[in-house]
Amino acid sequence: MIRPVLLYPDKRLRKRSAEITRFDEKLGELLDDMHDTMVEKKGVGIAAVQIGAPVRAITINIPDENGEQLRENRIEIINPTMFSCSGGVLWSEGCLSIPEFNEDVMRFEKVAIAFVDRNGEERSLEAQGLLAIAIQHEIDHLNGKLFVEYLSLLKRKKFEKEWKKSRKN
Ligand code: CO
Repeated sequence: MIRPVLLYPDKRLRKRSAEITRFDEKLGELLDDMHDTMVEKKGVGIAAVQIGAPVRAITINIPDENGEQLRENRIEIINPTMFSCSGGVLWSEGCLSIPEFNEDVMRFEKVAIAFVDRNGEERSLEAQGLLAIAIQHEIDHLNGKLFVEYLSLLKRKKFEKEWKKSRKN
């Protein structure tokens, strides 16, 4: 089911999401809704808080060579911890909660995370490229952080101005 996405500057996006302790049908439904919503809005990643569920769950699906986001290719990341990171890369990011705005953000080039899947099974993943960027962006969401917070003061002001203007239209 496609659910409404919380938009900046909704205060709920600023809160730290809670650890998931129950791996039941409800969690499965939430994760399915996250994927449906993300694909509908043409995103590559989404955090549960963005559809109003403040729990530590992330769904990522990098489009394949045909530009498709098949359900079986999705990666579900629950209660993640980053245990290693290296390098640095400037990446133009966007966010489903801040539509039609992109700006460069400095991120680690490679990351490794430990997490659990929807069944509560322990997993780990090493990532680079877009997947590594998406992981860092989505983990920030779990901690109540949005990518615009990385912008310089000048760029942030420019963003706030453009954002207010675009909301009026
Ligand atoms: Co985002």
